[in-house]
Amino acid sequence: MKCVWVMMLFLHCALSEKFEVVGPDAPVVATDGSDVVLPCSVRRSDGHSSLSAVDLNITWTRSDLGGAVVHFYGSHKDMNTSQSPDYRGRTALIKEELQNGSVSLRLSEVKVFDDGQYRCRVDSEYWEDEVSFDLKVEVIGERPVITLESYDRKSEEFSLLCESKGWFPKPDLQWLNSRGEIQTAGVTESQRHAELFSVKRRFTVHKNNIDTFLCRVSLGEHWKEDEIKPSVFYASSSHQ
Ligand SMILES: *[C@@H]1O[C@H](CO)[C@@H](O)[C@H](O)[C@H]1NC(C)=O
Ligand SMILES: *[C@@H]1O[C@H](CO)[C@@H](O)[C@H](O)[C@H]1NC(C)=O
Repeated sequence: MKCVWVMMLFLHCALSEKFEVVGPDAPVVATDGSDVVLPCSVRRSDGHSSLSAVDLNITWTRSDLGGAVVHFYGSHKDMNTSQSPDYRGRTALIKEELQNGSVSLRLSEVKVFDDGQYRCRVDSEYWEDEVSFDLKVEVIGERPVITLESYDRKSEEFSLLCESKGWFPKPDLQWLNSRGEIQTAGVTESQRHAELFSVKRRFTVHKNNIDTFLCRVSLGEHWKEDEIKPSVFYASSSHQ
């Protein structure tokens, strides 16, 4: 009888020590220069009730950068000795949330370098678990510029060029007519200067199809555009 009691107690302790680490369902997206919270939390494996993380060790690393340490909290305090210099002074746990099981990390002044895979790992003396997810950093580039390059008298076609720079990652570039319909255009050419992308794409219009055309460069939920009005085409063809 005594033995069963001891075993039950042991089982109870073992179960209550178990926890799981939960991260976001989708990649986290942040615009460069902003602050972002990388969500991560611990909860008990049985019943999913919350668990305080105050007494646990929390290790945030970059799994795509050989496990470089982003932030480490152990023995009830933040420790910066193993932290990668790239993250120095830019990370913080939300201390008042630790007791509710949140081990989310606040990362400030996000930059393209931060784009990558993050691992949130939590250790107790008896148990450990971890989760990995991506942080996608976006840099919104400059407003595109449309140039009317030429008018070919023979084919009666105008050649337009749309260019935009300063994006990360590579944005989408579309030519649209005044009704917002996507136009068939040339291939999108892209170039990378330092870490940012420039894109350009040509579009040919016959003189019978003159309209107001838009060039739209977009990344996720952000976009910038320029437009060219019919008057520009008329002025150009009469000069040539
Ligand atoms: C937690 O971190 C402290 C400080 O680095 C270390 O001494 C201890 O062994 C760690 N405990 C676990 C369970 O990883
Ligand atoms: C590490 O943290 C201590 C205390 O918060 C701080 O004084 C020190 O400047 C930090 N070291 C580096 C290299 O950031």
